[in-house]
Amino acid sequence: MSQSGVSEVSVVDNVPFGRTAGAPQFFALRLEKPDTPGWENWRPGQFVMLRPSSWGLDMPWGRPFSISRVSSRELVLFIQAVGRGTERIRDLRRGDLVRVWGPLGNGFAMDPKVPTLLLAGGMGVVPFVGYVEKHPRPAELTMIFGHRMPEDCYPVETLGERIELEAYHEASPEDLEWFLRHIRSRITAYAASKGLVLACGPQPFLKAIQSYALECGARAQLSLEHRMGCGVGACLGCVCSTTDKWPVASKAGQPVQVCNHGPVFWADQIVLGD
Ligand SMILES: Cc1cc2nc3c(=O)[nH]c(=O)nc-3n(C[C@H](O)[C@H](O)[C@H](O)COP(=O)(O)OP(=O)(O)OC[C@H]3O[C@@H](n4cnc5c(N)ncnc54)[C@H](O)[C@@H]3O)c2cc1C
Ligand code: FES
Repeated sequence: MSQSGVSEVSVVDNVPFGRTAGAPQFFALRLEKPDTPGWENWRPGQFVMLRPSSWGLDMPWGRPFSISRVSSRELVLFIQAVGRGTERIRDLRRGDLVRVWGPLGNGFAMDPKVPTLLLAGGMGVVPFVGYVEKHPRPAELTMIFGHRMPEDCYPVETLGERIELEAYHEASPEDLEWFLRHIRSRITAYAASKGLVLACGPQPFLKAIQSYALECGARAQLSLEHRMGCGVGACLGCVCSTTDKWPVASKAGQPVQVCNHGPVFWADQIVLGD
């Protein structure tokens, strides 16, 4: 695991993304790049815990967000407002201060010589923005992206210029059934060609992918979006159970913290709840 730390940085800007009715629900948050260790070698799939400095004791915990892009000056996150914390983060403006812990967690496997299938559900696309930008051979990457909100709410425009991108809008239960059948057949094909399958999205989406990967023996990793408190392994607020394939035999079958053992796990090493 890479080094990381906590720093207080300024918001560069916070721009709404896409067309939604009412208050903007999606936004790109650009922050000054933290000066803590680990940022030169961050890995796509890693995340930060973010807590605006103005939050009071009613909001003691930060919120976890995937690292999307890091430049020499900026850290970029894409955020969907879904509750109390993310709605307040939506209100951040240029110059506001936030505390950032990171980069945290392990990140996705990257094997440049191997065809790699990226499976993204909704905001699960965010860690793949950096994955595609950092991959030395993007021609080996294909992404299947399922989404419910309009496509322009998600940061996929630049992805389509670099890799083969199939985006599917899910408007009905029939669409979902078709989408899952399609994913299953593509996972089976990647298993046959010894490819790599990487997935990020809501838990039911990950559960379906896990079961398809296990039935055909695909090499697959899943990035879990559990609720988190401390983000660094101390509060036990984010555990999931391991299987007998967990690499440390004495810990197999035991719960592990998603924040510091993940958030990315091999599909055959964890048990996903509902
Ligand atoms: C490793 C990791 C990376 C993430 N990356 C991103 C990202 O790039 N962009 C992004 O928008 N979100 C991301 N999330 C999810 C984000 O952290 C949550 O949406 C956020 O913490 C919700 O905070 P809140 O205070 O607004 O919601 P709350 O008020 O705490 O909850 C509002 C609703 O959201 C649900 N909820 C809360 N946390 C989660 C969660 N982790 N997953 C699913 N539902 C949740 C609650 O059950 C509730 O229904 C990530 C989560 C993890 C663990
Ligand atoms: S969030 Fe505290 S242990 Fe993972």
